[in-house]
This record gives sequence, structure tokens and C-alpha cells, in this order.
Amino acid sequence: MDFLKEAREIKDFVVNLRRVIHQYPELSGREFRTSELVADTLREIGVDEVIEGFGETTAVVGLIRGRGENTVALRADMDALPIEEETGKPYASKVKGVMHACGHDAHTAMLLGAAKLLVKHKDRLKGNVKLIFQPCEERQDCRGAKRLVAAGVLKNPDVGAIFGLHVFPELETGKVATCPGAVLASSDVFKITIHGRGTHASKPHKGIDTVLIASQVVNALHHIVSRRVDPLDPAVLTIGTIKGGEAENVIPDTVEMTGTVRTLNEAVRKQIPLWMEEALKGITAAYGGSYEFNYSEGTPPLINDKKVTTFAMNSLKELLGDENVLYLEKPSMGGEDFAEYLKVVPGTYFRLGTGNREKGTIYPLHNPRFDVDEDALPIGVAVLSFLSFRWLSANS
Ligand code: NI
Repeated sequence: MDFLKEAREIKDFVVNLRRVIHQYPELSGREFRTSELVADTLREIGVDEVIEGFGETTAVVGLIRGRGENTVALRADMDALPIEEETGKPYASKVKGVMHACGHDAHTAMLLGAAKLLVKHKDRLKGNVKLIFQPCEERQDCRGAKRLVAAGVLKNPDVGAIFGLHVFPELETGKVATCPGAVLASSDVFKITIHGRGTHASKPHKGIDTVLIASQVVNALHHIVSRRVDPLDPAVLTIGTIKGGEAENVIPDTVEMTGTVRTLNEAVRKQIPLWMEEALKGITAAYGGSYEFNYSEGTPPLINDKKVTTFAMNSLKELLGDENVLYLEKPSMGGEDFAEYLKVVPGTYFRLGTGNREKGTIYPLHNPRFDVDEDALPIGVAVLSFLSFRWLSANS
């Protein structure tokens, strides 16, 4: 069996699906049309079980029953972004202000392509393949992966390993990249309100200056990553907004700030909000103010399992050649909710190269001119189908 050759033979099928999905992008939690297309296509292909609306979301979960007890899962995300497309391509978004600027259209189409190849070779599959089409990857507050895991998507039959990938314009078409361990960061958000006492600017002694307190809070929070976290543990603390005051001659009652915290390590992640609170408490108390602190956990760090990832990288070298399977030297401080699956079952998350200078597919993710090199789609199809086939053969 030559998965790469077979994937190239169904390229049109995959490209057509990708373009249809691309033209009708849907925001997180509203993937109605997309999930309908996915479910219809899975039934057409001959996938044994298709569940729509899994976990009371717009998710679609398919199951291909092979010959064996073990189950491997593949995941694609389906949601788009509130961005106005500027590619000018004939298959550009027909929905104003909404765009597949993160390639989830390609992820969905590639997983459908992989399903088609796996159904074709069902007799030789040494177990089951679960196909997870997930909503809500882009918006932290709707928590796509987390809800599916809670609703039991990794159970019945129990999933032994999971694979997922993301298109990556900085990587050349034809190549994939990953490594064992942490590849993406946790992504948490916070909101701080400093309370003081408003007063006229000319009488600062009559009030409690929240702007001055806030400036010291900003300094103290930046002290955490630079002076309290081990320098060998990557972490980011960014304050993205700060708001207070209306007039140049009035000290405001309150100042609000919001921001994000990123780490590659769960222990550091748990510690940072404790240090933040310590700083807030001390500084506001010292100047007679008070504070409110809301810290909300988003996705955990994305940690690739060592054993499964080594197995996957070796298998992919056979499929794509040694030179096309790159060891990811540096993780990214971006976040991805695939991490939620990897907290429960071992697996690997890959970057799939879609960068092609001549075709101009070099704009970064979430850019209005982002596009994927469609020659990469058969490679993604082959990667997903071959890996699940191989993993089941090795674990039967
Ligand atoms: Ni994405």
C-alpha cells in the first residue's frame, strides 16, 4: 500500500471539500453547515458510525471499525475567524467578516480524505479509527476539545493514541515537523481591577491614586517571569490592556488591566497566579488600595508523548523520507486545545508545511491574506491515514 500515492489520487476530492468549506466559513460554536457537510461526506464514504452533535456541540464523531480491539483517534478542528479575507482567490470566503485564516478548512478536508483511504483499507486495519471533527478551537471561552473530552469522546471504544496536525506556512510544503515533549504553551487569561479613591489631580493626598498603583503592579508582574520563574522554564506574562481615567486632571477610582500567561510546564503554570496575587496584595495594601483578581485557565501546555512521537516520527520518515520529517527545535508560546486530548491519552501533534514562496502561501496564520498550498493536502491525508494504520498494526 502506498498511502502517499493513494492520497494524491484523491487530491481533487480533498481540494473540492476544502474550497467549499473555505467559501462558507463559520465562527466557533456555529459550525452548522460545516458539520453537516462532514457528516454527509462520512456517510457517503462508508464510515461505520457517524454521530452528529456529539456532547451537545456541533462536533461530528465518526468510527471506522477495523479488525482488532485497539482504537486510534484523529482530530481536525472546523471553526473560522472573525477576519475579512483579502486573498482575492476564486474560492475566497463568501461570508463577510469571516474567514478560514487558520487553515481549519484544510484540516477538516484532510481528515475526510484520510477517512476515505482508511475505509478503503478497512480489511487490513488492525483496529478502529475514531475521527473527531471538533468545533470551537479558536475561542477559549467555548472550549471545544475540553467539552468533547468531558462528554467521553476518548471512550467507547477507548482511544489508545491520538494524532492531529496544523498547517504551518513558515514550513515548506512537503515537510512535517514535531518533537517529543512540550511544543505549545498553556494559555490562561487574567483581569485585574485596582481600587483606590478618586480625587482631583491637584489634591492627591485626598485620594488613593490607582494609576500610580497600577504602574507599580505592572512592574511587579513583570518581575515574576524575569526573577521568580526558573530561566530554563519558558514563560510569558503579557498585559494587553490597561484602562483608567477619563480626564487629565482627575485621579480615577479604578484601573483595569487584562492579560495572558503562557508556560510550557504545568507546575510553573500553577505557581504564576499565586505570585501575581502576592504582588497585588502587597502593593495595593502598601498604598491603601485594594484589588480584584480573576485568573481563568484556558488550555494546558501541549505535551507530545515521547514513545508515540518517536514511533510517529520514525514511521513518517518511511512515508516522506528522512529529510522531510523535521525535529522541532523550539516550541512556540502559542496555544492549541489539542492539549486537552493529550492530557488524557498519549499522542502527537504535528506541523504540516504549507509554505510555498512561488504560490505566495507564506502569510502567517490569522492573517487576512493567509492561504494554504493545496499540494500539501495529499501529504496531510497520507500522514493521518498512514500513522493510524501503522499505530494499529504496531499495537495489535
Ligand atoms: Ni488553528
